[in-house]
Amino acid sequence: MTAPVDPTTTAAWAKLTQLHENLEPDLRGWFAADPERATAFTLRAADLFVDLSKNLVTPEIKQALVELAEQVGLTERIEQMFTGEHINVTEDRAVLHTALRAPKGTELEVDGQDVVADVHEVLQKVYDFATKVRSGEWTGVTGKRIETVVNIGIGGSDLGPVMAYEALLPYRQDGLTARFISNIDPTDAYLKTHDLDPETTLFIVSSKTFGTLETLTNARLARSWLLGGLQSSGAISGDDDSRKEAVAKHFVAVSTALDKVAAFGIDPENAFGFWDWVGGRYSVDSAIGTSLVVAIGPENFADFLAGFHAMDEHFRRTPLAENVPALIGLLNVWYNNFFGAETHAVLPYSQYLHRFPAYLQQLTMESNGKGVRYDGSPVVTQTGEVFWGEPGTNGQHAFYQLIHQGTRLIPADFIGFANPAHPLKDGDADVHELFLANFFAQTRALAFGKTADEVRAEGTAEEIVPARVFTGNRPTNSIMAPALTPSVLGQLIALYEHITFTEGTVWGIDSFDQWGVELGKQLAQELTPAVGGDADALAKQDSSTQSLIGYYREHRS
Ligand code: F6P
Repeated sequence: MTAPVDPTTTAAWAKLTQLHENLEPDLRGWFAADPERATAFTLRAADLFVDLSKNLVTPEIKQALVELAEQVGLTERIEQMFTGEHINVTEDRAVLHTALRAPKGTELEVDGQDVVADVHEVLQKVYDFATKVRSGEWTGVTGKRIETVVNIGIGGSDLGPVMAYEALLPYRQDGLTARFISNIDPTDAYLKTHDLDPETTLFIVSSKTFGTLETLTNARLARSWLLGGLQSSGAISGDDDSRKEAVAKHFVAVSTALDKVAAFGIDPENAFGFWDWVGGRYSVDSAIGTSLVVAIGPENFADFLAGFHAMDEHFRRTPLAENVPALIGLLNVWYNNFFGAETHAVLPYSQYLHRFPAYLQQLTMESNGKGVRYDGSPVVTQTGEVFWGEPGTNGQHAFYQLIHQGTRLIPADFIGFANPAHPLKDGDADVHELFLANFFAQTRALAFGKTADEVRAEGTAEEIVPARVFTGNRPTNSIMAPALTPSVLGQLIALYEHITFTEGTVWGIDSFDQWGVELGKQLAQELTPAVGGDADALAKQDSSTQSLIGYYREHRS
């Protein structure tokens, strides 16, 4: 393993430091002086049209950012990822989510295994299963057609499928809906099952490890709900064989741990595998997407994968100066490390993308929320920023005030589509045009602001002028595509995967492990007896934990 390059020791970092010190951001002036600025900073990647011109960068800064990428070895790291080197060093694993969307026949042998052939074998199994559910050939135990698939999973085994299902609702087959249970709050399992008919419900238990407390608990709750419902309606007799048959018809699993799937009582014939080289947050395009395949069908899922692949090819083959994920990742580094920006907003102008920011929170923050580099040494810069967001225009009426006039710099990505999923009119007005006008207006306001003179010219009383001034120079990326299709969604997800990778590479961290989630899990197991009333276990806790558990035990009826 070669040691990570300390980015702060590179010539590019020194240059960027200097450029930052001397920078007087002036987007108004820069646009006025250079009529070609928008064109010069607009790039295309697959179907995406990406306007980076409203960033606090000059051509010289962009060049220095590209040099930084070169000096930390981004090109080599990209190749190491695509060719299956074990760049997830703390888990000694290859990182091959890009192989999940490699076309059939692509040659890629890793650790002696033809991974693309393996991927397509599982994909075919998922497609065959989904086709049977969609056609009605796969029925519940009483012969009724499946109407609802319920994915049970958490983190990467939930956020990707639910986000993509919601994003692609217009592609869903009529009569088939999906639901998603993730939280161990029993309310989640209750809400998602209480109004369903067990005879027409199919559960997909999705867990890479098949050891996650939340998922196994929810899977057991679902099994009890199913068997209880079928028995009480007389649909099954309730003897062992009838229960086994019901589980076989109403439960399938997705996991890398097929032995644990069998131990849970799900027939391994009805299980879809994947591999340890797929990180949970990078797995929506593996069998973890089975609920999505059932809902939208194999053809649309294949388009989804093709979209990912198109972005992979762009990232792998495009020179860094025109490489969209690399440049956005570098801009994020620029704001994070040179301007001290702490958060990054993602603002989809698409209601169907309402879960996209939540999905990106796991992707970006579980990947890059690290305090040590991949060789175990402390990081030398700030790392992962906080990602957050809501769809426009809802966000405009909630938190945009702070982005426009607050004291913090919040870089923001605006995402929009030329064609609406539902072209509705309000009288003569095309509502999608009103919607997009808001997107364009916001990025303009953030970039160019409003001066005191402009405010005065509107007749504003002098004492109110300062409150109505917009400083501008608030950076945004504008990302557009013709429409939110399965392919475009795949492109968007892969775009953010590679942005995350670029940032992690500059910081020298392992963006593919997630040790930070372990301590809480371990302590929850340890605390469960204390919560349940074990006095010895309670006595071992700190005074605050004892007091919280005490409150709970006193008030629980
Ligand atoms: O706790 C974090 C995590 O390990 C995520 O990385 C993962 O996506 C999630 O839990 C679920 O894990 P699994 O798919 O193994 O149930």
